[in-house]
Amino acid sequence: MTRTTPNASGARIVGMGTALPDRILTNDELAKMVDTSDEWITERTGITSRHLGGTTAGLAAEAGAAALEDAGIDPSGIDMLVLATTTPDRAVPATSSTVQEMLGLDCGAMDVNAACSGFVYSLVTGHGFIAMGHERVLVIGAEVLERIIDWTDRSTCILFANGAGAAVIERSEKGTDLLGWHVSSDGAMEEYLYCEHGETIFMAGQKVFKRAVLVMEESARQSMKQANLTADDIDLVVPHQANIRIVETSCKRLGIPFEKTSMVIHRTGNTSSASIPLALDDAVRNGRVKEGDNVLLVGFGAGMTSASAVLRWSGEPGRRG
Ligand code: COA
Repeated sequence: MTRTTPNASGARIVGMGTALPDRILTNDELAKMVDTSDEWITERTGITSRHLGGTTAGLAAEAGAAALEDAGIDPSGIDMLVLATTTPDRAVPATSSTVQEMLGLDCGAMDVNAACSGFVYSLVTGHGFIAMGHERVLVIGAEVLERIIDWTDRSTCILFANGAGAAVIERSEKGTDLLGWHVSSDGAMEEYLYCEHGETIFMAGQKVFKRAVLVMEESARQSMKQANLTADDIDLVVPHQANIRIVETSCKRLGIPFEKTSMVIHRTGNTSSASIPLALDDAVRNGRVKEGDNVLLVGFGAGMTSASAVLRWSGEPGRRG
């Protein structure tokens, strides 16, 4: 059992950005590669297309640059870069070092691998750096999952894809946006979803599905409890975009209407660490979040990890107006 005290450091998201590579792979194209159909994939997962191409550093840098621009912040204003990824470009060095150079940042940089929970882990880590004295942290989730997909395995190649999403968090005198958070891992379930070095993803789909539904609910409840909020208080849910049916079932268990979720899975597939910031950015850009809203981020992934955070939206991203 972990013990946490609600973060009271005073930090909030002040800018967001995303990147999706140009190549779009549709379900119909996939049906020419493996024994599947657009109907099957759409019905069972909610996915209709996904993006391929790029490098993890390249996508991360594009999303990071967009987030900096959105926040109106010069690269010199960033004190730390935390990059969530399960598909680093190299084993060593960390991809965050490459991204740091590409963005012209003068700060510490590190990768976080918590699978699809990585962005929320990194967001919490970023708030931690601010609690320890930093002014601004750039948090990015970026993946090139196409690298570790077996393109002849119809149970996995229909799901995973590439992309990146980023957020700038900044110290704030007005209080914190992070009202509650929860991270966990259960290594006893690592055999459900893994990838050996140089190989491709193995996934026990149904086991992952069942576990995902349980941990999404459990983690969300922990964060809401810490934030002193109930399901009725949540204005927007930004779930990990793994399978629309997992999100529907989790929402039902939590008592939150599905209409309150931000979903981009139909056009992105499962982009692991990038999925939550991609969906959050989409909600922000479409005017679905306003100042004072309670936003629940919740995800799960290999490990099996889970992570959630309740944010009180400040209305600042971006300062783009
Ligand atoms: N197209 C057509 N048929 C497919 C298929 C595909 N792409 N993939 C699997 N099938 C078949 C199976 O072979 C099986 O056939 P059978 O009944 O003849 O044996 C049938 O569809 C049902 O397979 P099943 O595994 O029970 O399907 P499902 O409804 O559980 O959906 C997943 C499969 C992978 C979509 C689903 O289990 C899932 O999303 N799991 C969670 C995965 C996840 O979230 N991973 C990321 C974690 S971060």
